Parts: sequence; structure tokens; C-alpha cells
Amino acid sequence: MLANFVQATYVVAGVLFILALAGLSRFETSKRGNAFGILGMFLAVVATVVAVWAPDSWRGEDWADRMPSFVGTADVPALVILVVVVLVGAVIGVFKAVRVEMTGMPQLIAQLHSFVGLAAVLIGFNVFIEIRRELEAGHAHEHIGFSMAEIWIGVFIGAVTFTGSIVAWGKLAEKIQSAPLTLPGRNFLNLGCVIAIIGCGVWFQNTQDWLPLILLTAVSLFLGFHLVAAIGGADMPVVISMLNSYSGFAAAFSGFALGMNVLIITGALVGASGAILSYIMCKAMNRSFVSVILGGFGAATAVATRDEQGEIQELNAAELAQVLADARSVMITPGYGMAVAQAQYPVAELAKKLGEAGVEVRFAIHPVAGRLPGHMNVLLAEAHVPYDIVFEMDEVNDEFDETDVVLVIGANDTVNPSATQPGTPISGMPVLRVWEAKKVVVFKRSMKPGYAGVENPLFFHDNTYMLFGDAKASLDAINTALPAAIER
Ligand code: TAP
Repeated sequence: MLANFVQATYVVAGVLFILALAGLSRFETSKRGNAFGILGMFLAVVATVVAVWAPDSWRGEDWADRMPSFVGTADVPALVILVVVVLVGAVIGVFKAVRVEMTGMPQLIAQLHSFVGLAAVLIGFNVFIEIRRELEAGHAHEHIGFSMAEIWIGVFIGAVTFTGSIVAWGKLAEKIQSAPLTLPGRNFLNLGCVIAIIGCGVWFQNTQDWLPLILLTAVSLFLGFHLVAAIGGADMPVVISMLNSYSGFAAAFSGFALGMNVLIITGALVGASGAILSYIMCKAMNRSFVSVILGGFGAATAVATRDEQGEIQELNAAELAQVLADARSVMITPGYGMAVAQAQYPVAELAKKLGEAGVEVRFAIHPVAGRLPGHMNVLLAEAHVPYDIVFEMDEVNDEFDETDVVLVIGANDTVNPSATQPGTPISGMPVLRVWEAKKVVVFKRSMKPGYAGVENPLFFHDNTYMLFGDAKASLDAINTALPAAIER
């Protein structure tokens, strides 16, 4: 009876996770999706606590067969440990989530993936300790080959995810250099690591010994470090979602090792959705998934365009307010700088005021603008910009030539025309063709290049004007000047 309750709750939790993913795929339903995910996780935790806590009298005869292996030996210390770790985890989670800035979200995600990877390694070790105990006590273990394979594959993926995520976090948080580490023969090194890991896995499967498992873990930890260290900053979005996928598969293998269906379902969902997201992002950046994994991208030096660039033109807030008041159509292309400046609120206010004055205002969102998928959409939604004026790049990229004014707010790589030329780290990445508009105004604080370190010739075009300063301060000044400009 209790086993039915626990397993049924796990199924409900799995369904809620699927509904969460479905909800999160559209802005309008994303809050509901989030709520489904929270409810699913709550139910899964409650069912697990109940399973561990349940006294023997509540457990049917088939309990051991139907429950995850870790609930077989439930006792008071197990429950205390469970409650303590859940509380510690919850406190750390709440503390991190409350303090994190939107711009620090990718780093936080990378940290969370590293926890999942480490957990998968520890679960693998733990299940192995249990199985060895059984074997040493003279009990036969059914399907020992399968169990060993579940353990080493889970440990392998978990260890790669763990160190890979730490390196990704270091690069994103600028704790380590974001340029790719290009060791000579790095692809052969990776290949050698994979062969060594498979060899140790087979050895482990045959001997059920600690040595191959420890060697495999060490090589996997190195492989995770080296794989991500070889990938440059411009490819980090793909790396994050790739690690997201790995962390899901690591969790799924932990689920197999523990015999825990809910973990298998959740891990498979995370693994598959992360892989799909990686594919979509590769497509958005016009990069092949394999070339991202093999790394080395971003090592090329920035294109030398300075010579042919010449002078820049500047504009101040009052002048721009007048330009906007006189325009018929305005396209706003936000980027990472809007997130840094927290300029989404004055941007929303400007869009509203211009709309009320009869100017057509639209937002054009590059798929990798900012530092994580959907970064700009989340910020604009937070500032209550209506969804129906926010467009994906492909929907509006052909319409810049009919646009009077483009406001580039803290974007750089995603509007860089050098991406259309060969020889730069962002070559081939589709970009917003803002330069086709009648007038382009770039909001930034200096002439520094964007995230990929590539000079931006857009700033030197005849129809481009720079508005230097913090984007929020500039937009506040424009909002103040706009009513008078509209009156004129
Ligand atoms: P970036 O190329 O990163 O450029 C951001 C610009 O914002 C900089 O030129 C910076 O210039 C300006 N800026 C910073 N703070 C500002 C402030 N307070 N006020 C005004 N301007 C400010 O931005 P992007 O166009 O959004 O491109 C995203 C880049 O990040 C791509 O290379 C992409 O591959 C990479 N990336 C994306 C993701 C995802 S999934 N979206 C994840 C990781 C990496 P100043 O310093 O001169 O102000």
C-alpha cells in the first residue's frame, strides 16, 4: 500500500516536471510551468521522506523489490540525515537565489550543475559500497554487470559535469581566463581519456574493485576540466546547456543505480532538454555541436578593422529624444549591457511613451543576447513590456531597412557586422543587421569590444551614433526630455 503511494507520487511528480517544461517553453505560461516544477519537486521530496521514515509495519512484503535501494535500511539516523541535508541544501539554495543578480544567473546555474555532478559521483560510490558489503557478506547480487555499468557510467558523466561546471563557472565569473586553453594535441588527449575511461569501466565491471573506479573518476575529472577549459568565452552559452544536459544524464544514471524511477524520469527530461537547447543554440550561432565540444574556438585574434574605421559620431540624450519623437518606427535591440545597467525599466517606459505618441516600437531579440538563453526576454517581461512587441531575430531581421531608428542598448557582439566576414571568433554567427536601418544609436560606456573580444565596425558607420554612458542613466535622461520633444 505504502509502496503504491510512493511510486504513484513519483509518477505524479514526473508528469508535473513534463508540464513544467511545457509551461516554460512560452513566456505567457512560464510562471505556471515554474509552479508545476516546484510542486513536482515538493511531492518527490515528500514521497522520499515518507519512504525513508515509514515504520516496518507499514511496509508490505514486496517493499524491498519496489523501493529505491536506499530506503531498504531505513532507521532514525537515516531520517535525521535526510532532514538535515534537505535543510542545509534548502538554506544554501534560498541564500544563493535571493542574492543572485540576473547577470550572475549563468554562474549560479554552472554551480548548481557542479553539485548535480558531484552528487552523481557520490551516489555511484555509495551504491558500490553497498553492493560490496552485500558481496562480502556472501549474498549473490543479481545483474551485477548491469549494476556496475550503471555505477561507472554515472560516475563518469557526474565527474565530467563536476569539473566542467566549475571551469564554466570560473570563466563566466571571470575567476579564470575565458580564452580557450589550447594544449598541443588536445583532441588526442581527450580521445585518450575517453579510451582510458572505457577501459577502466570494463575492468571495473569485471573485477568490482575500487582501483579501476578511482582511476576512472580521476581521468573523468581531468576530462571535464580539459573539455571546458578548451572552449572559449563566446561558446559558453552552449557549454552551459551542454553541462545541463550532462547533469541530467548523470542524475538519470544515479536513478538507475538507486532503482529510483523519479530520478530516471527527471534526469532524462533534463538531459534531453539540455541537449535540444544546445542544438538550438548551436544553430543560432551557426556552429556545429561537434566543433563546440572540440573547443579552441575564440582563440583567433580580433579582426584588424581599426584602420578602415575612421571617426565616430556622438549624440546626447536630448538630441536623441528629438530623433525618436520624429521617427515613425523604432527597433530596440537589447544586450548584456541592458542587464548590467538594469535598464529594462526605463526601456519599457520609453517604449510605452513612444507607443502612446504613435511611434511603432518593437524589440528584436538575438538568441544569445545577454548571458543565458532568454535573458533579455526575462528582463523585458519583468519590466512589463508587452509580449506582442518582442520579436525573435529571425522574425524581424529583414525589417531593419524599413526602420527609422535602431536603439542598440548594451548589445555588441550580437549586432557586429564582422560576424558576416570570415576570420573572426564570431564569424558565421547570425547577427541582427541593425546597420541597415536609417539611423543606429549605440548605448555603451566606452569603445571596448563585446564578450567575444571582437572590434565592432558598426560604431564607425556613417549612420551610427554613439551615446556614451550608463544605459540606465541615458534612458532616464531621454525619458525626461521626451515629452517636450514630442510637443515640438
Ligand atoms: P556583449 O557583446 O557582451 O556586449 C555588451 C555591451 O554592453 C558591451 O559592449 C559593454 O560596453 C556594454 N555595457 C556593459 N555595461 C553597460 C552599462 N552599464 N551601460 C551601457 N552599456 C553597457 O553583449 P551581447 O550583444 O548581448 O552579446 C552576448 C555575448 O555573450 C555573445 O558573444 C554571446 O555569445 C555571449 N554569451 C551569451 C550567452 C547567452 S546564452 N546569451 C551566454 C554566455 C555568453 P561598455 O563596457 O563599453 O559599456
